[in-house]
Amino acid sequence: MLNKNLQLNEAGQLKHFLSIEGLKRQHLIDILDTAEPFSNVSEQAVKNVPILRGKTIINLFFEASTRTRTTFELAAQRLSADVLNINISTSATSKGESLMDMLHNFESMHCDMFVVRHNQSGAAHFIAEHVSPHVSVINAGDGCHEHPSQAMLDMFTIRRHKQDFADLKVAIVGDILHSRVARSQIHALTTLGVSEVRVVAPETLLPNDISSFGVHVFHNMREALDGVDVVIMLRLQKERMQGALLPSEGEYYYQYGLTPKKLACAKKDAIVMHPGPINRGVEIASEVADGPQSVILEQVSNGIAVRMAVMAMVLGRSSKFNKAS
Ligand code: CP
Repeated sequence: MLNKNLQLNEAGQLKHFLSIEGLKRQHLIDILDTAEPFSNVSEQAVKNVPILRGKTIINLFFEASTRTRTTFELAAQRLSADVLNINISTSATSKGESLMDMLHNFESMHCDMFVVRHNQSGAAHFIAEHVSPHVSVINAGDGCHEHPSQAMLDMFTIRRHKQDFADLKVAIVGDILHSRVARSQIHALTTLGVSEVRVVAPETLLPNDISSFGVHVFHNMREALDGVDVVIMLRLQKERMQGALLPSEGEYYYQYGLTPKKLACAKKDAIVMHPGPINRGVEIASEVADGPQSVILEQVSNGIAVRMAVMAMVLGRSSKFNKAS
């Protein structure tokens, strides 16, 4: 059982950023509001602000990543922090050094934050429980558990297009069972008061306890997309699948792939989202991924501002920017 309060300090503010579960609506609004002015930094000629000058941030990615690792690195650089990307495959862990010994060595180099991606659920919580009190930990995705910064950049993107969460109907389509992104998104959407969250998947790709998530379950895409404002597509996470959960990829695409015809069931101004990496012709057609309703690349850009906000907040420096801007 993970300690949900570990991420808050005595004043109830973020000390670590480990999961959306356990955070209140105001925490999520604070992240979104803090990210707003940071999105302008990337538009400036000189793309940085001195908010985390003198701070040292270490990216520890034990699992592959394109978007999350690079946008955390850019976010740290744009806040003027010193940032180190550790290549786990060439680190001394390959000589038998334990994770904790490696972390204690980094701590002795006076680092202030670890950004951690790991294939084990709970890895970031475990690290947060064991680091020195001055060090913050950000979860960049842990197993099938949570990917909180992804969910917040998704909420930021939705708010930019749809303003009020309360009136929205959102459909999340695909491999819900193995998706840390879906878990974080469901917590974020329900905490922000979205009126209806739908999940759409074959029975084999839904968690057993889906009824406890506060969502509406669908197995038919056309019914599920009827009248929705936001469609979030997920990748089949084959690296986490044990055994055959689907008849074939072709059959999956026929039933659940987002094509222009199926998207026509959603509202005309519905936006299409995907956390990436996308698998064209498996869960989404190229015409949709590259089409006018797609905000997939906007999500990536927004990831920098949202990750800047989270990094500044956990180190207690976010008010410095708000005052200066
Ligand atoms: N969305 C996401 O987590 O992508 P990466 O695996 O490329 O970081």
